[in-house]
Amino acid sequence: MGESILRGTKVTKCFGALRAVWKVDFDVKRGEILGIIGPNGAGKTTLLSLINGTLPLTEGEIFFKGERISGLKPFQIAERGISRTFQIVKPFPGMTVLENVSIGALFGKDKMKDAREAREKTRHILSRVGLQGKADLRVEHLNISERKRLELARALAMDPELILLDEVMAGLNTAEVESIMDLIRELNREGRTILIIEHVMKAIMGVSHRIMVLHHGEKIAEGSPEEISKDERVISAYLGERYAKMKGSAHVAG
Ligand SMILES: Nc1ncnc2c1ncn2[C@@H]1O[C@H](COP(=O)(O)OP(=O)(O)OP(=O)(O)O)[C@@H](O)[C@H]1O
Ligand SMILES: [Mg+2]
Repeated sequence: MGESILRGTKVTKCFGALRAVWKVDFDVKRGEILGIIGPNGAGKTTLLSLINGTLPLTEGEIFFKGERISGLKPFQIAERGISRTFQIVKPFPGMTVLENVSIGALFGKDKMKDAREAREKTRHILSRVGLQGKADLRVEHLNISERKRLELARALAMDPELILLDEVMAGLNTAEVESIMDLIRELNREGRTILIIEHVMKAIMGVSHRIMVLHHGEKIAEGSPEEISKDERVISAYLGERYAKMKGSAHVAG
C-alpha cells in the first residue's frame, strides 16, 4: 500500500439544515480496502455520492490522484477511473443483462473502440461475477443476489482504479456473501482500490484493511477492524448488539 489515491478535506453536504456529511477528512491509499460503517442515516451513501459526483459538495474538496475532482460531472469522474454501485439497484429495464453491462463498457476510462469489443469484455466480466448463464435474460427476471452482481459487473465494466461499493451484500445469504468477499479480495489483488459500505459486520470487518466510522455525518473513528471493534464510541453509536454477535465469531481481520 503506497501513496494516497483519494483524499478529501472537510467534505461537507447539507440538505437544508441537515448535516448529512460534516467536515469529513479522509485519505485512501492506493491498493487499500477501506470500509465505511455507521448507523442508518449516518451519511455513508451521501459520501459516496460526493466522491463520484452524483451530488455537489456544500463545502470541502476531493482529490483523486492529486487532481481535484469535486466540481466535475459524474461522467468525468468515471472517465478518470472511479466507479460505484448503488444501494438501490437501478438497472435499465427492458434490456438484457449483457446490454446493461455493455453500456458501462462503452464509457469509462479506456473507452471501448467498438461494440463487439465491449461485448467480449462484458462476457468476461459476467463470468467473473457469476452471471455468465444470465447474459441474455432481461434484468427484470433477476433475483436480489443476481441484481447485486449485475451492479458489480456494471461498475467493473468501466475498468476502474477505485471502486465504491454501497451495500452489495445486503439481503444475501452466507454463501453469497462469502463469494462476493472473495471477488472483492480478488479485485483488490489486481491493484484496485476499494471503498466499501456494508452493514454485514462479519463481511466488512473481514475484508477491510481499515475502517472509517460515520455517525450523524461526522467521522467518529478510523482504524484497523480490530481497533474499531474495541472502540467505545463506535460500540455505543453503532456496534452494540452487532458487536456482541461478532465476538462469538473466530476472527476479525482478514
Ligand atoms: N437527496 C436527499 N435530500 C434530503 N436528505 C437526504 C438526501 N439524501 C440523503 N438524505 C438524508 O441524509 C442523511 C444521510 O443519508 P445517507 O443515505 O447518506 O445515510 P446512510 O449512512 O447511507 O444510511 P443507510 O445505512 O440507511 O443506507 C439521512 O438523514 C438522509 O435522510
Ligand atoms: Mg446508504
